[in-house]
Amino acid sequence: MEQAYKNPLRAGLISRKVAEPCTVVVFGATGDLTGRKLMPALFNLSRNGHLPQRFAIVGYARREKSDAEFRKEVAEALREFSRNKPESETEEKDFLSRVFYQQGNFDPAGDYGRLRERVEEIEKTDGLPGNRLFYLATAPEFFTTVTENLKNAGLVHAVAPDKPWSRVIIEKPFGTDLASARELNRHVQSAFDESQIYRIDHYLGKETTQNILAFRFANAIFEPLWSARYIEQVQITVSENLGMEGRRGQYYDTAGALRDMVQNHLFQVLCLIAMEAPASMDAESIRDEKVRLLRAIHPMTVEEVAANTVRGQYGAGSVNGRPVKAYREETAVDPQSVTETFVALRLFVRNWRWAGVPFLVRTGKRLPKKASEVAVIFKQPPHQIFAGSEFQDVRQNTLVIRIQPDEGIALSFEAKQPGLTMKLQNVKMDFRYGSSFGQPTPEAYERLLLDGLLGDATLFTRADEVERAWQIISAVLDSWKQLPPPPFPNYESGTWGPAEADRLVEGLPNGWRRI
Ligand code: BG6
Repeated sequence: MEQAYKNPLRAGLISRKVAEPCTVVVFGATGDLTGRKLMPALFNLSRNGHLPQRFAIVGYARREKSDAEFRKEVAEALREFSRNKPESETEEKDFLSRVFYQQGNFDPAGDYGRLRERVEEIEKTDGLPGNRLFYLATAPEFFTTVTENLKNAGLVHAVAPDKPWSRVIIEKPFGTDLASARELNRHVQSAFDESQIYRIDHYLGKETTQNILAFRFANAIFEPLWSARYIEQVQITVSENLGMEGRRGQYYDTAGALRDMVQNHLFQVLCLIAMEAPASMDAESIRDEKVRLLRAIHPMTVEEVAANTVRGQYGAGSVNGRPVKAYREETAVDPQSVTETFVALRLFVRNWRWAGVPFLVRTGKRLPKKASEVAVIFKQPPHQIFAGSEFQDVRQNTLVIRIQPDEGIALSFEAKQPGLTMKLQNVKMDFRYGSSFGQPTPEAYERLLLDGLLGDATLFTRADEVERAWQIISAVLDSWKQLPPPPFPNYESGTWGPAEADRLVEGLPNGWRRI
């Protein structure tokens, strides 16, 4: 603001981040993710002026296809999935003219030689300096093969100042347990330096998740309350009403809710809520604090897992008034499957700030609605002057961060109802993105792709972070193997998960939050 007064000519200028000229190579270019998320994200970045004039996208996949055929598919994907559609034929053509296709398999080294020739040829024709971002949107079993082949084919530049850069963005899942995540890190780090590796977690790309940092560290008034002294419990919920769409069951049946959602998305949200203030906004400061927080969550013993976790699997039921089938009847799912589609955990962060505060984390498929939120529930006032029959129960102050939908933050507190008696009512101060900012928020993938292009790793997970998260999750997975299996299916579709989940909130005043 001060700056603006000093130099009025600068007032209103937008500082827009623009990537350096480069080539993005997308592996798995004909897959769902590329069409639904990556191409629309690149198009929106281009439309909003974040991509430079000199820029190329090379799609790489197994199917035989010409540039023209691939461009047609990309155009269709933009029309169907992009939040902004191309406004004119010229705009569409301009974007598509930078899109190319290279057929190749993921295994044979020879195909990477051909890819290298193609990339070099495009770089030469378009006057590109050789900066390369490789995006691994393939099935996870190819992550190792692709990174190693890239290295062996000489497509990866070593980190050197004033030289063209190479980076790799790796999609999830990054491993399936601690051992496989370590192994994957070892392989990827043999081809790329850790500073070149960007492990994606799209929850970090969400505006509302990033706003947790702004809320906590750009405001002074909440931080003094942010500890076991004033906070009774924290509930983190990511609920989905979808089941297994298409052939999703094929992957999901090998993963389950704990691996699919908790190890990555819910842990990231938990880290941002509970970590200490970083020294600065740079990637390493923030990631150091997240790792420190994860280190304060101890891997549980079998007994602790039995007491602090509840698994569920949906049976038939109805969602949004529509009958839906049981998980075991879904396409590509084992009819005897013991995979969990719901999980609830009670976690403790063992440090000074959080000692004794339960972090109640739950996520599931085929729940009544799609909603993600964090509820920070404060303690009751230490001395209750409003207790007694003439008053209703005093409800605790609750701060709810709505990640999606209806993005915003609400703080609830008790107020006196107007009238001649002292009657209390719970009311809310509510901040809503929609009404406060009135502008559409970018998709998570736009932010993450742009950060990858700019070389900002703040919103990506570091090797030690991923491994620590897996260490906590692997302890649960191993214990589950030793515990008697729950009687699956144990919740009806369209309900809030198994009744047994209430066990985790016993003794807390209001149980699981109603969302
Ligand atoms: C993905 C999971 O990572 O996140 C899916 O694999 C899940 O199972 C999805 O549906 C949820 O993301 P969002 O952004 O819709 O909350």
